[in-house]
Amino acid sequence: DKGGWSSFMAKEVSEQPDAVANTLRGRITDGHVVVPELTEFGDDVLAGLRRIVIIACGTAAYAGQTAKYAIEKWAGVPVDVELSHEFRYRDPVLGEDTLVVSISQSGETMDTLMAVKYAREAGAKTISICNTQGATIPRESDAVIYTHAGPEVAVASTKAFVAQITALYLFALHLARVRSSLSEAELAVQTAELQAVPAKIATTLLEADSIRQLAKWMSDTRAVLFLGRHVGFPIAMEGALKLKELAYIHAEGFAAGELKHGPIALIEPGQPVFVIVPSPRGSAHLHPKVVSNIQEIRARGARIIAIAEIGDAAVLPFADTVIHIPLAAPLFEPFLAVVPLQIFAMELSIAKGLDVDQPRNLAKSVTVE
Ligand code: M6R
Repeated sequence: DKGGWSSFMAKEVSEQPDAVANTLRGRITDGHVVVPELTEFGDDVLAGLRRIVIIACGTAAYAGQTAKYAIEKWAGVPVDVELSHEFRYRDPVLGEDTLVVSISQSGETMDTLMAVKYAREAGAKTISICNTQGATIPRESDAVIYTHAGPEVAVASTKAFVAQITALYLFALHLARVRSSLSEAELAVQTAELQAVPAKIATTLLEADSIRQLAKWMSDTRAVLFLGRHVGFPIAMEGALKLKELAYIHAEGFAAGELKHGPIALIEPGQPVFVIVPSPRGSAHLHPKVVSNIQEIRARGARIIAIAEIGDAAVLPFADTVIHIPLAAPLFEPFLAVVPLQIFAMELSIAKGLDVDQPRNLAKSVTVE
């Protein structure tokens, strides 16, 4: 049931505040993150972890890449993020002090399932982040943190993605508490930021009409580039994936710092480039670097669509279009920056008359290699 929406995707994009709120529910008590599912491991095991390996495919892997920044910063544990199908066909070094975290909306992705089995046989501990109760991957794992995004029907993942990042941030804060890697005060600040996310996503959704207009103007576009830095980098790649799968447009996400190492050669007059701009307050060291990237590509004729914090005046003179997102601490910007990119891909797909819920050649759950 599309509940009055024109597509399942439109409905699911709009449900993102609830997807985050429902995933938080029951896991924060008196301002403290306690993920009951993690207590199965025992605090000593979590405190003794030397390494975390995240395995996933597609959008779920971008959730993992996004969360790597928070897990390392808060819990102080090194994190590797790897595509499941690459992981299982090399000889990854795993041990008892390694925790392998799999992420899968469906819980049935064959590559991720086989990677989890491999990890268990190699002696690692395994935990699954999954949106589907009783699916195969959680059954094959030592523990599971369910995301409570509700059923996701559209092939393109949206609300499951923000719910996955939510679950991973809860995991990171639980770990940080057990490992005493953050002070009580810092834990409280990050927990409050996480609780503020649903309302901020709701505010971001108000940009939908202007993004629809933008997508209509751009319906003839042949290629789109996405630039991001720090946590904006995996979001740039997720924005590109959404555009590929929904609008069949060639799209690439790049780390903004890589521009000079190759991608800037792609810039020619009229080339649309989405730039996820870090906050001038929270990321004062990175913000000017990204603004200067914008100037560099604009000088070569790029058409800039900036996703920037409300009140960021520095980008205004250089951007053709600015999409505003609410103020948030740097690690929480991904929850907001991804929303306009999802809406843009969806609206471009609709403008081209494509099937937004069932893009060609794709299946919701990839149960074959
Ligand atoms: O069910 P999973 O989360 O394991 O699926 C992983 C990918 O197949 C999935 O995220 C895919 O990339 C989506 N179509 C992205 O929108």
